Amino acid sequence: MKLIAGNSNRPLSEEIGKRLATALSAADIRTFKDSEVFVEIRENVRGEDVFVIQSTSTPANDNLMELLIIMDALTRASASRITAVIPYFGYARQDRKAGPRTPISAKLVANLITTAGADRVLTVDLHAGQIQGFFDIPTDNLYAVKVFERRIREIHGGELDDVTIISPDVGGVVRARSLAKRLDDRPLAIVDKRREQAGVSEVMNIIGDVKGRHCLLFDDIVDSGGTLVNAAEALMGKGAKSVSAFVTHGVLSGNAVERIAKADALARLVISDSIKAREEVAACAKIEIVTIADLLAEAIRRIANEESVSSLFD
Ligand code: R5P
Repeated sequence: MKLIAGNSNRPLSEEIGKRLATALSAADIRTFKDSEVFVEIRENVRGEDVFVIQSTSTPANDNLMELLIIMDALTRASASRITAVIPYFGYARQDRKAGPRTPISAKLVANLITTAGADRVLTVDLHAGQIQGFFDIPTDNLYAVKVFERRIREIHGGELDDVTIISPDVGGVVRARSLAKRLDDRPLAIVDKRREQAGVSEVMNIIGDVKGRHCLLFDDIVDSGGTLVNAAEALMGKGAKSVSAFVTHGVLSGNAVERIAKADALARLVISDSIKAREEVAACAKIEIVTIADLLAEAIRRIANEESVSSLFD
């Protein structure tokens, strides 16, 4: 087995390598002055089972291009099987025609990945499970919920009686319910976001009882932070005891970190390391990062050994 890391998330790739007792393969992956990506794999990969680890996080297009060009280099170097390990699959939110004359970019990106030479894909918490169907190659979508369950139990020290799991929107209910079930069947509440008139700010209705409860928001992506901060304010407004958030992919673009840091209603944000934390993310006292290296390393090990990965979905 060979592990090759793109430049998007070296720390996570190195952690995965440590867990598999496999050093990252030598590769020269750089950008020419005109911004074109150049890749040279600096060791023999002929006949090898190769795992390319790259999140298509910001700069999304550069990181995507790196992933594609690494796989092209591996195909031309006669690797026997290439697995694209994409801890954060960017473009996933463009998974349907959102309006007339708009693209389905997630499908296009899936086509590009396949055309570049991927034989299979391994990813984590796809924005919508159906995106697996955009690939005509085996695609394993792992869930980081176990990692968050462990952290929540540590934080609450087993005292879960006054905990309620919150889905920040109607679309996230299945995800939130899976966490609620794992946490000894905690109750679930849903934030129902509505813009009742164009240009008028959103109305947040809370479906479920949150008064006097520690509310744990569970989501796949935090981008601008608007969803979480608005939900936290609405929950506190309904008498919640505290609000924390647990989110797999910390996209955190624009002034999201500042917004989260300033939001009194939100006590804590826990994200995974699917995306490399920028300095300001790592420095923010309110944001904590948990690793998904064990989950990905175990999945890679099983794929390489042709073992079942299904128990990782339990
Ligand atoms: C939406 O469907 C996603 O699950 C997230 O809730 C959304 O992407 C978060 O975005 P933001 O942080 O910009 O509100």
